Amino acid sequence: MPRRITGFTPSGDLHLGNYLAAIRPIIDQQASTDTVVFISDLHALTLEHDPADVRRRTLEFATLLLAAGVDPAACLFLVQSHAPEHAELHYLLESTTGYGEAQRMIQFKEKTARQQHVRLSLLTYPVLMAADILLYDADEVPVGEDQSQHVELARDIASRFNARYGQTFNVPRAVNPPVAGRIMDLAAPNDKMSKSAPSTSGTLRLLDEPKVLRRKVMRAVTDTGSEVVYDPERKPGVSNLLAILAECTGDAPRRLAEKFDRYGELKEAVADAVIATAAPVRERYVDLAADPGHVGSMLRAGAERARERAIDTVRRAKDAIGLLPV
Ligand code: ADP
Ligand code: TRP
Repeated sequence: MPRRITGFTPSGDLHLGNYLAAIRPIIDQQASTDTVVFISDLHALTLEHDPADVRRRTLEFATLLLAAGVDPAACLFLVQSHAPEHAELHYLLESTTGYGEAQRMIQFKEKTARQQHVRLSLLTYPVLMAADILLYDADEVPVGEDQSQHVELARDIASRFNARYGQTFNVPRAVNPPVAGRIMDLAAPNDKMSKSAPSTSGTLRLLDEPKVLRRKVMRAVTDTGSEVVYDPERKPGVSNLLAILAECTGDAPRRLAEKFDRYGELKEAVADAVIATAAPVRERYVDLAADPGHVGSMLRAGAERARERAIDTVRRAKDAIGLLPV
């Protein structure tokens, strides 16, 4: 069974793009893969944050992943900070990574350019991500393009550590999410739908009420002309709606385009399909959120199981790098 790992950083709100590209594939494949799913709360500390907000979202994300169908019996499901081995391995890997190497990360450069006070953890964040991955001997890391460079770094760190200190880590690789095209923002179809978009009018949040989802779809920016065709270059708005409909219904965007004469009809169908996808998740979320103690106990059990594997990896790494065993 291939070993996979996916992390969700509790900032912003989970949206349909996250669901279709990252969450649904986990659920579809959790029985046939050895999967780790975790809330990367330590990663949320790399940018200015409100402590209460991070705590609330960590529970919200965990509850939402369970509501979507993540099965803690089929995968390892935990909050990152509940397994201190993530931070422990992070330090050992920092001692295997060059300063220049960390500084070269594109996301670091982009985020630094937008900030006045840059936290040291923003620089070392990809090394923590490498620790997350190597800790569980992951073979495959499904990530979007923006994270591929971080997985490359994890590969470099693992290979270097193995070459310098002896075989310790499995060398992972990035795999592309099965959603080929990205889901774009409904109000700005040239930008991807994002947890951290400045406005939420084009973001289909998984916890939006059905009537809000419908309103956002009906107000989606479309393109000049009135013909429904799938052409992401020339008609990004309409093509995005077709891509969303295709992902929600399992049909192909070009075939779907032939079924509609007007934008209005297409939007009605997209709204129905989005609601049929998101509403059941939201309903299960409401039920689960009524008993946060139950979610908490699943997270505690998940961390306990995850640590059994993580402790072993950290022990291997400590031995190899030269620390005296207790
Ligand atoms: P965001 O960009 O919204 O902050 P993340 O970077 O946390 O989201 O991404 C979490 C996962 O969701 C990744 O696997 C990423 O590839 C996927 N994802 C995020 N946004 C989209 C999108 N608009 N379309 C398709 N997949 C997406
Ligand atoms: N950095 C990822 C993101 O922002 C989340 C993440 C943290 C992750 N650690 C990971 C993803 C390990 C995959 C594997 O989306």
